[in-house]
Amino acid sequence: MNIPISKPIIEDEELKAVNDVLTSGLLVQGEHVAQLEQQFKELCKAKHALAVTNGTTALHIALIGLDLKPGDEVITTPFSFVATVNSILLTGAKPVLVDIEEDSFNINPDLIEEKITENTKAILAVNLYGQTANYTKINEIAKKYNLVVIEDAAQSIGAEHKGTPSGSAGNMACFSLYATKNVMSGEGGMVTTDSDDVYNRMLLFRQHGMDGKNKYVYHSIGHNYRMTNIHAAIGIEQMKKLERFTNRRREIAGLYDEAFKDLSKLSIPVANDDNYHVYHQYTLTINDDKQTFIDYLDENEIGYGIFYPKPLHMVSHISKIGYTEGDFPIAEKVADMVVSIPVHPALTQSEVDYIIEKITNYD
Ligand SMILES: Cc1ncc(COP(=O)(O)O)c(C=O)c1O
Repeated sequence: MNIPISKPIIEDEELKAVNDVLTSGLLVQGEHVAQLEQQFKELCKAKHALAVTNGTTALHIALIGLDLKPGDEVITTPFSFVATVNSILLTGAKPVLVDIEEDSFNINPDLIEEKITENTKAILAVNLYGQTANYTKINEIAKKYNLVVIEDAAQSIGAEHKGTPSGSAGNMACFSLYATKNVMSGEGGMVTTDSDDVYNRMLLFRQHGMDGKNKYVYHSIGHNYRMTNIHAAIGIEQMKKLERFTNRRREIAGLYDEAFKDLSKLSIPVANDDNYHVYHQYTLTINDDKQTFIDYLDENEIGYGIFYPKPLHMVSHISKIGYTEGDFPIAEKVADMVVSIPVHPALTQSEVDYIIEKITNYD
């Protein structure tokens, strides 16, 4: 048995959808992209959705949509994929990092206020592993200081905070449709927002400042962040299966929770009562030597991932901003302890049973 940490589910519907686009010859951004945007608007209860090439460009264009300037500051977490901080750096703004909560692994809202200055423009919270950050508290702070709240929702499609879908828990949200995500299009990204101004700025940036009506009239600087109809066609079929995929992820997580909750060498992930967790990752915290556990998973051919082995303030190009080891003790501590195990819906029941048996025996 060799069980991968993730595996995309590609069925007849995705194959047919791609084939139909290829046969039509209409490969670039068109009707399929518009249809995928519509699905996101409905799911996220958002006024606008803008499809782009990937989750990184979704983050970048969202910040462009806010018209950030060099010197502006964006508050975010050190415990994420590097795209979160890179997207801020790419705008010329300064990422201001805030440590995380030890139980949810998300930004600690109680530490945000002390980092706010007159240059702070936005809070970019990450919904790590499929659980939203605490938007009740984050939105309260943002309101007090007139800041924009952006969700890095790359891992949280279908998640909710107090019944509000990820995608409208803050003012904007950025999704990834990368092949390993809960729904995927190979590569792909999406931004949701209720703001007409932000949407219009992003719309222009997506295709070199052109408004879609007048060719070669450039209203602003821009880039080519357009999604293809081929990718969108896959995404459309995947979105129809989101509920099925999420239910299976949550079902497997529930089985793991039950089986592992009393083990001594590791702890199960904490799902906050306010949140509907969609388990992009099922992440164990290893209380004794992590390497021994990893070696054990290797021996038993159980795939795993370390998301993420190094907090972002310790990555060279980010530490240069003025960060050093010791600045974010919780992020540093958990980075040494986390191991994610397979929870994707392509797992068979016998694979789930096998993982449970092996990890229970490890203790
Ligand atoms: C938290 C987070 N942010 C941003 C991204 C970037 O998305 P993409 O890989 O689609 O560019 C990812 C995906 O890997 C992610 O997990």
